[in-house]
Amino acid sequence: MKALVYQGPGKKALEDRPTPKIAAPTDAIVKISKTTICGTDLHILKGDVPTCALGRILGHEGVGTVAEAGAGVTVFRPGDHVLISCISSCGKCEYCRRGMYSHCITGGWVLGNTIDGCQAEYVRIPHADTSLYPIPEGPEEDALVMLSDVLPTGFECGVLNGRVQPGSTVAIVGAGPIGLAALLTAQFYSPARIIMIDLDDNRLETATRFGATDILNSRDGKTVQRVMALTGGRGVDTAIEAVGVPATFVMCEDLVAPGGVIANVGVHGVKADLHLETLWSRNITITTRLVDTVTTPMLLKTLQSGRLNPARLITHRFALSKILDAYETFGRAAETRALKVLIEA
Ligand SMILES: NC(=O)c1ccc[n+]([C@@H]2O[C@H](COP(=O)([O-])OP(=O)(O)OC[C@H]3O[C@@H](n4cnc5c(N)ncnc54)[C@H](O)[C@@H]3O)[C@@H](O)[C@H]2O)c1
Ligand SMILES: [Zn+2]
Ligand SMILES: [Zn+2]
Repeated sequence: MKALVYQGPGKKALEDRPTPKIAAPTDAIVKISKTTICGTDLHILKGDVPTCALGRILGHEGVGTVAEAGAGVTVFRPGDHVLISCISSCGKCEYCRRGMYSHCITGGWVLGNTIDGCQAEYVRIPHADTSLYPIPEGPEEDALVMLSDVLPTGFECGVLNGRVQPGSTVAIVGAGPIGLAALLTAQFYSPARIIMIDLDDNRLETATRFGATDILNSRDGKTVQRVMALTGGRGVDTAIEAVGVPATFVMCEDLVAPGGVIANVGVHGVKADLHLETLWSRNITITTRLVDTVTTPMLLKTLQSGRLNPARLITHRFALSKILDAYETFGRAAETRALKVLIEA
């Protein structure tokens, strides 16, 4: 089968690989119909994710059809149409029982990281019963790919951890797919103001269409003053970091109001400064989280009821054979205006 393989920092290739086989009775093999590329895949290619070894098939998002189910799989049968969660969970270990699937002792974020992932024709899903979700067949398939990672990440790591409240003020730094997913799902709670911050005017324009009340291009270095002007000098109740570089984490430290929350979403490859000398007295909370995907069933319902339309995040489509072009397009998002690129296997 064709698969996109990580070959070390800055290197990747479309290779021919053997089709994966059931390795444990709880595994399923899923024939991928649609997958996509995540900002985290770009972090891997930058060398930011040391757990991802050379030779790994990348990708942790997708929908498809069960091709084979191990003897221990009870929920799914060959032919079932499924959503793949970016987090694999056994459902039984201490962390899973606490709803912290991201830290499942025999799962977590393994796909496209420590085991082969979804940017291929087939993928092996461990703990299939508790890592796949049944989905209806049909046109919603494209939108459903956004539920593997993007929407639960924006919602859980950004909105829930950030304690977005009715009437509150929110700043989201980073208007990539994850920041935009936080923007879409923050609106469940009716905050008074959602300020989107990015360097890319196209993405900010998209943010306005997705419901941002204010957009700020941080290119001029005056973002903090402008947010203070918008918030009566107080700052924001929730500052969501959805980029993953030191400068934007520090920006969130500068933007947060007393009593507020900095909710980090970004994957960081290097250290970021924590200015306790200014923050110690401000009663703030800093949260970090690897998405657990515990909200996937809820998000599925909001999608099926039409409350959410995440297919709006899809800007480009490619065949799997053209995945290198898809990476090229996604990697040059400022020029190509790419948000999520849908890859059809
Ligand atoms: N915590 C988790 O579980 C989890 C899951 C998925 C993704 N992530 C991470 O979330 C982050 C966002 O993902 P994405 O797919 O949206 O990435 P992305 O690269 O598409 O988007 C990042 C955005 O940040 C903007 N940006 C870059 N530098 C900036 C700066 N200095 N100031 C303001 N804006 C700046 C870019 O223009 C871009 O629009 C990534 O770090 C990704 O790895 C985390
Ligand atoms: Zn991801
Ligand atoms: Zn577990």
